[in-house]
Amino acid sequence: MAPRPWLSPLALPLGPSVALLVLACCCVAEASIVEHTFNVGNLSVSQLCQPPRVITAVNGQLPGPAIHAREGDTVVVHLVNQSPYNITIHWHGIFQRGTPWADGPAMVTQCPVKPGGNYTYRFNATAQEGTLWWHAHISFLRATVYGALVLRPRAGADAYPFPKPHAEETVVLGEWWNDNVYDLQQMAFLTGLPARSADAYTINGKPGDLYNCSDGNQTYRFQVRSNETYLLRIINAALNTPLFFKVANHSFTVVGADAAYTTPYETDVVVVAPGQTVDALMVAARAGGRYYMAASPYDSAIPQGPPFSDTTATAVVEYLGSDTDPTTPPTLPPRPEVNDTATAFRFLSNLTALVRPGQPTVPLSVDTRMFVTVGLGVSDCQPTQLLCNRSATVFSSSMNNASFVLPAPGKPSMLQAHYGGDGETAGVYTRDFPDRPPLVFDYTADASDTAALQYTAKSTRVRTLRFNQTVEMVLQNTRLIARESHPMHLHGFNFYVLAQGFGNYDEATATPRFNLVNPQERNTVAVPTGGWAVIRFLANNPGMWFMHCHFDNHLDLGLAMVFEVPDGPTPETSVPPPPADLPQC
Ligand code: C2O
Repeated sequence: MAPRPWLSPLALPLGPSVALLVLACCCVAEASIVEHTFNVGNLSVSQLCQPPRVITAVNGQLPGPAIHAREGDTVVVHLVNQSPYNITIHWHGIFQRGTPWADGPAMVTQCPVKPGGNYTYRFNATAQEGTLWWHAHISFLRATVYGALVLRPRAGADAYPFPKPHAEETVVLGEWWNDNVYDLQQMAFLTGLPARSADAYTINGKPGDLYNCSDGNQTYRFQVRSNETYLLRIINAALNTPLFFKVANHSFTVVGADAAYTTPYETDVVVVAPGQTVDALMVAARAGGRYYMAASPYDSAIPQGPPFSDTTATAVVEYLGSDTDPTTPPTLPPRPEVNDTATAFRFLSNLTALVRPGQPTVPLSVDTRMFVTVGLGVSDCQPTQLLCNRSATVFSSSMNNASFVLPAPGKPSMLQAHYGGDGETAGVYTRDFPDRPPLVFDYTADASDTAALQYTAKSTRVRTLRFNQTVEMVLQNTRLIARESHPMHLHGFNFYVLAQGFGNYDEATATPRFNLVNPQERNTVAVPTGGWAVIRFLANNPGMWFMHCHFDNHLDLGLAMVFEVPDGPTPETSVPPPPADLPQC
């Protein structure tokens, strides 16, 4: 049995070579346990000159507490649910190898923690460095239940594969509603209509100066010193909106995305889709002054969908020192157009991985090829959608025309059904998620928008893989209803993005352009609007792994599926028994 990486080297039998290794590693901190208690409860917040709103938050904070760990540490979070809602937390981007019961999506890997209940999440941050985050994975509660999860190298910031910054700053981008987001989700479900757009975007929980009625307390401030370098850890925690991120008169060197290092990439605009993170170095290259950091929406829908909130969140980057006049209004960066797909695509397709010796890279052989359409369609109201117009169809979204629904209340979670040995007969899910769409058609042409093609049926289908299989998936956006960039997120794995483009995927022209040398590694890919992306991953992690659009509106409408990965040959490669405190449905 290979030693668990979090064991101290001293716990191993000390041969001469191991003793040398111990000496060589004398300065590397040993793995430790990072422990937190998350009390989920009510918090009263007043934003945008509205009367105070009661939101659901962790430890009375918005964003919630940041978790800082080093690669190889064990993270333990005791969740105490003092809120009136069922809750689960997902550790977005953590592989959860050997700990699938800690992944968090409600009804996929666990039943929710009921009001008054507890659950302890315990997992290792092994073989991951960079910026991840955590969020509620039930209803729309992640609108206010989210925070950063920062993983530094075992040897500390000196071990970054880029010049060590003077300081680091976590920049969590979000969306704010003046309404109760739980009720918003309920209404969306009951009526079969997507929820309305947010009232504001936020930076570290605050909307900033450009909103009517924003006061100085609602603007996040970030102080810098001239000529110092800052590592910005940018997280898009918004529910439904990809964001452009800029700082006036400053530019960035991107060094990581989704907790995977990238080749340094120079840009003055960062693009982050919901679920994604970007680590960027910013040199405070001015002598002094005040500058806005701005997050503005990227609306990729063609034709443009229901009105979205075309506003800008700001924070202030303020130079310390006498060259700064605290009364001057900060400089605002020019904002990309809301539908600036060219800028979004340039950023998102130009990133490449930083290839490092000894680190895994893209698998070159493929065992399973899937071609999966992603997009919007329509379906019949479900019987539980009590407020929808029975004579009409409602919005739906799907992958390969299968519109995903979670197991009905009263059933166990999908991972429990899987562990129990016969998920299919338990009536929880079926193993028939298709590898191709039911029909080959011109996916992205305007003429493809016909009523017959739009119809999708609801199901809980999984794709069962073999352990250690390599999967290649073409994600093809459709133009049924609308083209749109869908941020597709995979739990349990990172994948490599080999190529992306617009229109219909054409194997003959795309394959020669695959990047098999240093493709970017991600947990969330923004499939270009009316286009496609090709990803590959190695199914080396047994469990039930959700794959879905990270727009909550689309996730709820069914833009999801689950990979079932059976156990490997050893206990270390098998799903362990559920923890004793796993919540019951
Ligand atoms: Cu960050 Cu399943 O999600």
